[in-house]
Amino acid sequence: MRQYDFTTLPDRLKTNSVKWKEVQKDKDLLPLWVADMDFLTFPEMTKAFEDFAQYGVYGYSSPKESLFQSIIAWEKQEQDYLVERDALILIEGVVPAISVAVQAFSKEGEAVLINTPVYPPFARTVKMNKRKLITNSLIEINGHFEIDFAQLEKDIKENAVKIFIFCSPHNPGGRVWSSEELLKVGEICRKYGVILVSDEIHQDLALFGHKHHTINTVSDNFKDFTVLLSSATKTFNIAGTKNSFAVIENPELRQAFKERQLANNQHEISSLGLLATETAYTYGKPWLQELKTVIEENINYSLETLTKNSKIQVMKPEGTYLVWLDFSDYTDNHSALSRKIREEAKLILNDGLSYGREGKKHFRLNMAAPKEVIQEACQRLVETFA
Ligand SMILES: Cc1ncc(COP(=O)(O)O)c(C=O)c1O
Repeated sequence: MRQYDFTTLPDRLKTNSVKWKEVQKDKDLLPLWVADMDFLTFPEMTKAFEDFAQYGVYGYSSPKESLFQSIIAWEKQEQDYLVERDALILIEGVVPAISVAVQAFSKEGEAVLINTPVYPPFARTVKMNKRKLITNSLIEINGHFEIDFAQLEKDIKENAVKIFIFCSPHNPGGRVWSSEELLKVGEICRKYGVILVSDEIHQDLALFGHKHHTINTVSDNFKDFTVLLSSATKTFNIAGTKNSFAVIENPELRQAFKERQLANNQHEISSLGLLATETAYTYGKPWLQELKTVIEENINYSLETLTKNSKIQVMKPEGTYLVWLDFSDYTDNHSALSRKIREEAKLILNDGLSYGREGKKHFRLNMAAPKEVIQEACQRLVETFA
């Protein structure tokens, strides 16, 4: 018996949800794309919002010291990382923080590297800030992604890369990088003077016994050149409240980041974001523990169902609630595949090509929904791709 409700499907059209809005036009569509969850969050969060609403004044708030302490306590407890209080910077989102980092630590025309396939805003941010985008392809080995370290080093060296935006755990592949892999990533960055921006927004969603290591605990030296970004928003389904944090232990880098943040007027955080983050880190752990078992069940179910009844290849994630599906056995025609998923299966999935060219014939499926929804999605896939 679970303590929390992971079976009710909330009516997300009520809040104009990005994930669900197309269902307004076509009621038969089932959306399993944007990375938020079709679960109710835990009661303490709702209560905190109710109390806030009751108060009746919604002016500017500054962050309370107890919020900073809740982040520090969470990082210590979950990642065994003692964050320096001064190193902690609040910002409204991890994606905005990536923009700030790109602007603070590189100039127009300079090279910024990402692994592909990867979360689409990485490439967009680099390109829209007029930096040179270097893509280093992940390689698929034994059913999961690995980093081609020889190629990574070559790409960094040949392009004089200034910043590496790294996704850890990895979206869309769900890799929870091992400490050996992280050590190699950090060592290469150190060797070539690269600023390592480590997006760890999925840090609390390591599954199936895998353990996430935050980059700053892999080696003490790494703190000199890392910008660690994370948030409670993905973990606790509060992404709409817009709040995240950066940890930058190197004082010079921190100063440069803060100046750029101020230049962009991105230093103020929504009062609801502040409240939601502190509430999540203070009361959310029991809910998170149950959530992970629900996601694991959903992943196991879809892996089994799709492997048994179709030729869709499912990359089993080690973390995150996102599953990377490979439809290569069906067609070479990505647009036809996309139409089939949308028009025949009536599913909205993330198009693999938005993650980079490696995403051809791939789509990403979101597992954070009640079991019945996942069963329905799998059934539609099996019927369409029998
Ligand atoms: C890797 C990664 N980074 C960042 C974000 C979004 O961050 P934020 O909403 O804090 O800007 C997501 C959302 O899916 C993500 O997967």
